[in-house]
Amino acid sequence: EQIEKGGYDHFMLKEIYEQPSAISDTYRGRMLVADGIIKMAGIDDNLAKLLNAKRILIVACGTSWHAGLVAEYIFEDLVRIPVEVEYASEFRYRNPVIHQDDVVIAISQSGETADTMAAIKLAKERGAFVFGVCNVVGSSISRETHAGAYTHAGPEIGVASTKAFTTQITILSLIALKLAERKGTISNSDFHYYLQELERVPEKVKKALESNDHIKLIADTYKDAKNFLYLGRGYNFPVALEGALKLKEISYIHAEGYPAAEMKHGPIALIDEQMPVVVIATKKGHYEKVVSNIQEIKSRKGKIIGIVTEGDVTVKELADHVIEIPETIEFLTPLLTTIPLQLLSYHIAVMLDKNVDQPRNLAKSVTVE
Ligand code: G6P
Repeated sequence: EQIEKGGYDHFMLKEIYEQPSAISDTYRGRMLVADGIIKMAGIDDNLAKLLNAKRILIVACGTSWHAGLVAEYIFEDLVRIPVEVEYASEFRYRNPVIHQDDVVIAISQSGETADTMAAIKLAKERGAFVFGVCNVVGSSISRETHAGAYTHAGPEIGVASTKAFTTQITILSLIALKLAERKGTISNSDFHYYLQELERVPEKVKKALESNDHIKLIADTYKDAKNFLYLGRGYNFPVALEGALKLKEISYIHAEGYPAAEMKHGPIALIDEQMPVVVIATKKGHYEKVVSNIQEIKSRKGKIIGIVTEGDVTVKELADHVIEIPETIEFLTPLLTTIPLQLLSYHIAVMLDKNVDQPRNLAKSVTVE
């Protein structure tokens, strides 16, 4: 096992560090940047169906559901097709409205999650076209869906999902870009520019990983907190949910993710000098609004950990700590902002002496209801 961990103390840390290569493995051979082409058999063979979709329904569980939420923002923004994201476990039991011209995208790292599988079967029965995004090749979900695309992230052993999440977002971005280009909902020059930016993401993830030692110090400061709040807006709202989930899963600290603007409708009541609040405040993405949310937290004496774009000065002045990430285009920011949140939860769990790779009560894939 020591050898399999490749010199890292835990699979989770190894998998966090694998993300630059996992992301490039996901787009390799599919994205020809110089030619401005995206080639994906599962998409190319079903292009008409996908382009004519009146609606996209995304079904998933856990971290894959969070990737689905990011995809909702990306698809609606770039492709202009309405998207709904559903927990597979709710979808399957609530007599959902499914049309024949709906496309259902099922996202699952393992390809074995029972609720997601049941949601797929239901959607198929009702005549929808079902597209799978799985990591495990040959998995049950990859076989049950009409078409699909693998993330090619390599085996993910740590129960808390890391590289599966970022590679799911990568593949869903590729799909959205391809459809947007074909539909003409983005300009040709934007399409080329977005491909170039996606190609640069692995290098930027590497850069984000360089904050590891700094994040360790922050983890040490807050490891004894009883609660954490994670806030983000737009594309980074799902990242806030995912950051909170990571902390809960492996450190057993209660954490909530919230859209930053919703804070005033509840969570703000929780803020006092004991409450660490992780705020995703990148330059691209409602920056001024997030800054005013940070001011609200500060005036209630909350401890602010800001995830900011390199060179940021405004948040630095207000926050107790900042963690910098490189700049990218807005819809790709989740691929970078999620990195420090993974590392923060990892270090807190290690410091609290928890079983990082196999947290209590959790399973890598939930194959029963
Ligand atoms: C379990 C795992 C999570 C995962 C979820 C969905 O709860 O612990 O990490 O996100 O299942 O799994 P899937 O394989 O369908 O993505």
